[in-house]
Amino acid sequence: MRVLTIVGNPATPSRTRVTADRLSEVLAEMGGEVTTVDLAMVAVDGLAHGRLEAEAQEALDAMKAADLLLVVTPIFKGSYTGLLKLLFDVLPHEALARKVAIPVMLGAWPGHFLALDHALKPLFSALGATSTKGLLVMETTANKEAQTLDPDVIEKFRPIAQEAVLLVDAFSAAPSPSTPSS
Ligand SMILES: Cc1cc2nc3c(=O)[nH]c(=O)nc-3n(C[C@H](O)[C@H](O)[C@H](O)COP(=O)(O)O)c2cc1C
Repeated sequence: MRVLTIVGNPATPSRTRVTADRLSEVLAEMGGEVTTVDLAMVAVDGLAHGRLEAEAQEALDAMKAADLLLVVTPIFKGSYTGLLKLLFDVLPHEALARKVAIPVMLGAWPGHFLALDHALKPLFSALGATSTKGLLVMETTANKEAQTLDPDVIEKFRPIAQEAVLLVDAFSAAPSPSTPSS
């Protein structure tokens, strides 16, 4: 199971990255081969002006190669970050079909937690991905200095990770739509 973790925070280091790293470890325990693309470290800004630089292309290729995307983004102004949108906007229609996406958002204010269902999941759906249940993380549960995430958050993530693994297995067992049936 190829897992691509995408970190959507333009700032680094960040609690978003710490969260992504700790949750990626859970997927690795479940058999995932995890690669991480931290958008704070990748030159994707050319995308804002229609330029596709090599690093952005590598990130897009990694998305296309993955079975499972773990997308971890802070909530900015009630939604996911513009940086994440820059990358997702250049993917062609249905580019994420037969892929599973786990939506994870960090925020400071619980009042904005609907962004998970109203913003991030529709982004995945528009590209054909199948979303698992999402995880909302209060920023105070991640510690940038100690690189830790509250154990309760990790425990909440486990059933979501299990759901993702089941969905990936189901997609790999099912014939692709282009395979003729006997
Ligand atoms: C520009 C900006 C906008 C933000 N907007 C929101 C918001 O609308 N709702 C919210 O709950 N948190 C908001 N936050 C808080 C971030 O979600 C929070 O800082 C982040 O989840 C975790 O911080 P870190 O990964 O940068 O360490 C905002 C933060 C910034 C910098």
